[in-house]
Amino acid sequence: MRSFIACLPKAELHLHIEGTFEPELMFAIAKRNNIGLPYDSVEALKAAYDFADLQDFLNLYYQGMKVLREEPDFADLTWAYLKRAHADNVRHTEIFFDPQGHTQRGVPFETALNGIWRALKKGERELGLTSKLIMCFLRDLPEADAERTLDTALAHKDRIAGIGLDSAEVGHPPSKFERVFARARDAGFLCVAHAGEEGPADYVREALDLLHVARIDHGNRALDDEDLVARLVRERVPLTVCPLSNLRLRVVAEAKAHPLKTMLDKGLVVTVNSDDPAYFGGYVNDNYLAMQEALSLTKEEIVTLARNSFEAAFLSREEKNAQLARLDTYAGAL
Ligand code: HPA
Ligand code: ZN
Repeated sequence: MRSFIACLPKAELHLHIEGTFEPELMFAIAKRNNIGLPYDSVEALKAAYDFADLQDFLNLYYQGMKVLREEPDFADLTWAYLKRAHADNVRHTEIFFDPQGHTQRGVPFETALNGIWRALKKGERELGLTSKLIMCFLRDLPEADAERTLDTALAHKDRIAGIGLDSAEVGHPPSKFERVFARARDAGFLCVAHAGEEGPADYVREALDLLHVARIDHGNRALDDEDLVARLVRERVPLTVCPLSNLRLRVVAEAKAHPLKTMLDKGLVVTVNSDDPAYFGGYVNDNYLAMQEALSLTKEEIVTLARNSFEAAFLSREEKNAQLARLDTYAGAL
């Protein structure tokens, strides 16, 4: 199973680039930028990665990204992720970035965008790994801040495929961002939103009805609401599920209690993703393997997860078919 998952062609659709910041690279970039970290060593930093909940993680996530200041910092971060994803046979990736996490600290939007973009293009050229970039609004900031961020993004529409919504969920429902998402849709951005990670099933419904998202990021809590599950199945709304994230942020108590197989059995279009792999103890193949082992997933189920990852991607029908043909060839050797 380990080698079957390792060689399986797949897409990754829920990945925060700032969440791929490995401690070793963080220390190296901090040194080159003359920025101190509140930990004396890589080991001390790693030891702090024991989270009570989403907010507890976000505090370290925002602290970590503070050392990213120059374009090469963002390029190095992104390139490190792409090499790692390529090793996991990720053929296509749709990555989130959090511009407000940078502009708030005085780092220009374009510094982050240019650095990330440069690495993404290099990934396509040198690794054959295609990608899309999704800009997330921080939902714990006011909608007016998201509006200003969208204004800036409009000048870079050629490089930003979609808009997402992340950060502290509870108390910041999708309805708070209804107007800015309407404007983003009018401008032609594809939309996704984190919903139902810590927040209730109602937030998932709001993301569909008010933000008109094409995918739900996480969506675990949708299972609390049977009618909502039926709708997600009927409308084939993909859920980008992140198993190891769910365990580390205590959204799910233990691997055997993870709802991934239940979601598959209900006919939901679920995908497996790594979210913030540097913080949660594993990249995408580690997520597949943890679920395979805990839930005794079959090879057919693993292939379904990979098939869903391409179907749910922001690719053209032709691009999806080309990826699926490669997957079918691989699965045909079962
Ligand atoms: N949830 C919400 N916001 C985030 C996450 C997450 O898992 N990772 C980075 N920002
Ligand atoms: Zn996420």
